[in-house]
Amino acid sequence: MAVNLTVNGDERLLDIDGDTPLLWVLRDELGLKGTKFGCGAGLCGACTVHLNGQPVRSCSTPVELASGGQVVTIEGLSDGDRLHALQDAWIEHGVPQCGYCQSGQIMSAVHLLANNPTPSRGEIVAAMTGNLCRCGTYSRIIAAVESVVVSNTSDSSQGREA
Ligand code: FES
Ligand code: FES
Repeated sequence: MAVNLTVNGDERLLDIDGDTPLLWVLRDELGLKGTKFGCGAGLCGACTVHLNGQPVRSCSTPVELASGGQVVTIEGLSDGDRLHALQDAWIEHGVPQCGYCQSGQIMSAVHLLANNPTPSRGEIVAAMTGNLCRCGTYSRIIAAVESVVVSNTSDSSQGREA
């Protein structure tokens, strides 16, 4: 079937079996290898991307469901050489160990802060709970997200003063 996707702002037209997981399309057809295959069963979150602004498990999303939609992957977060604030925070806090789960972690964190720029620790933990890390980097993930929350809080209080 013909599938039309906008991926990281670029329109892509594919002729592909509609049952093909979105993850295969991103990695094998479009060469976007930043999104990872973990469990392949919707359980670990390593394959998380955004589809129409919502985080989805691309390993278990048939590409036909994404047709006509807007997909954002880890490669689409930066603006040229300028990384997303969360990517900078990940580097600053040395979050990754093996790194395998981290693009999915960041995509979930980006969605959280896009919808709630100043979440509590409990809200961060709840939002990130579906993203598993076999290396146990959870405390650094929370610290990195909280560092961006602090900067969002300071931006909004400066805005109120202005
Ligand atoms: S690889 Fe998709 S949820 Fe694990
Ligand atoms: S950093 Fe290794 S699985 Fe998360």
